[in-house]
Amino acid sequence: MKVLILNGSPRSNGDTAYILGALKSKFPCGTEFVSLDTYAANIHPCNDCRYCWEKEGCCIQDEMEILWKDDYDVLIIASPLYMSFVTPPLFSVISRLNYIWSNRYFLRIPGSLKPKKGILVLAGGGDGSPDPAVNIAKTAFRFLNAEFDPASDYIRSLNTNTVSVQNDPDLAGQIDRTLRHIIGAYHR
Ligand SMILES: Cc1cc2nc3c(=O)[nH]c(=O)nc-3n(C[C@H](O)[C@H](O)[C@H](O)COP(=O)(O)O)c2cc1C
Repeated sequence: MKVLILNGSPRSNGDTAYILGALKSKFPCGTEFVSLDTYAANIHPCNDCRYCWEKEGCCIQDEMEILWKDDYDVLIIASPLYMSFVTPPLFSVISRLNYIWSNRYFLRIPGSLKPKKGILVLAGGGDGSPDPAVNIAKTAFRFLNAEFDPASDYIRSLNTNTVSVQNDPDLAGQIDRTLRHIIGAYHR
């Protein structure tokens, strides 16, 4: 099984990284992980050049290749909340998925990405609603043909200003529940 992680956190030893480490440790041994660190990667946001209105794909060539390969079984989207949203570099990555919509709408090219599973990981200090971040992640999962059920595939620690992720009493249970769902579906 191959897992692609889109990591929106700028802090390599921060809260999102801690959750991702705990989550990765629960996957079966032999699982291959590939991580796109969106702050380190050189990925341009969509600039509405409209290439995808007339031609297949996206004309910007950069590290988005890792997504276009479509060779993974599970997609993890992970981010701290910034103003209730995902972080800017992660949103740049997500904006680049819009060619899939444009190809379909303007050129009638049906999506051909293989089915996969989605997991959402969010860390937040405890301010405001995470709904905007959840909604944009749902859009990304839909564009990439990743099945995502918030009831089973959403792991969050949203009060890190007062309860550290290391001491979040709900985290281990959320991770176990998600893994049961993802691994169960993989073996079905
Ligand atoms: C620019 C900025 C905006 C933030 N906005 C929110 C927010 O809207 N809601 C929230 O709960 N926490 C917010 N936070 C706090 C972070 O989400 C929180 O500290 C998180 O645990 C950091 O995760 P990390 O260590 O993986 O970066 C914000 C932090 C920054 C720097």
